[in-house]
Amino acid sequence: MIRVAVFASGAGSNAINLLETAKRLGDVRIPVVIIDQQTSPLLERIRSEYPDVETALVPIPPMKDVKARREVHETEILDVLKIFQIDWCFLAGYMRMVGPTLLKAFQEPNGTSRIVNIHPSLLPKYPGLDGYEQAFRADDAVSGVTIHFVDAGMDTGPVIKQVSFKREKKDTLETFIERGKTVEWKIYSEVLTLLNDQRTLSAEKKR
Ligand code: GRF
Repeated sequence: MIRVAVFASGAGSNAINLLETAKRLGDVRIPVVIIDQQTSPLLERIRSEYPDVETALVPIPPMKDVKARREVHETEILDVLKIFQIDWCFLAGYMRMVGPTLLKAFQEPNGTSRIVNIHPSLLPKYPGLDGYEQAFRADDAVSGVTIHFVDAGMDTGPVIKQVSFKREKKDTLETFIERGKTVEWKIYSEVLTLLNDQRTLSAEKKR
């Protein structure tokens, strides 16, 4: 059994999609969802709809120094991941950079990590926040979604899967984001299924 932890900060549509996908898979289990925001609706939703899944609220500690704060936060997260004997981490709208503590704990011998992220753009275009908004404002005819291994950079790790979608003439920002989200759910589900079938993940291309 491969044990996956999902990390989320906000609305959590990707987290729910992964929980639903895992129900159908024989060799992958998601025993815990790590949430760093008290306000995330996921806390209540998972407790009421997924009784077999634990939620771990691990808020960011109140320290000024960013490096020290990240280290303390990730050590707390790591304690939870150890309890659940987690093999892989899937970031699903987790709005934080991952630091050396988690990267080291999930490092593969080949240098990539067993931490995966989904990003709403055709990376390397538009790393960071608001990928869809940026593509929409720039009038890009094609946008997309990238799933990649997490490394020390901001959305810079090797790509596992990248899928594009067209911007339609009649698109508003809302319909454009909606189409992107549909792509996100489909391909994150496919990557979790790949992990189930192959027992590991590999990069589609190096960047
Ligand atoms: C998604 O667009 C994801 O690609 C990005 O953050 C957003 C999270 O949405 N990393 P949700 O919380 O999963 O609905």
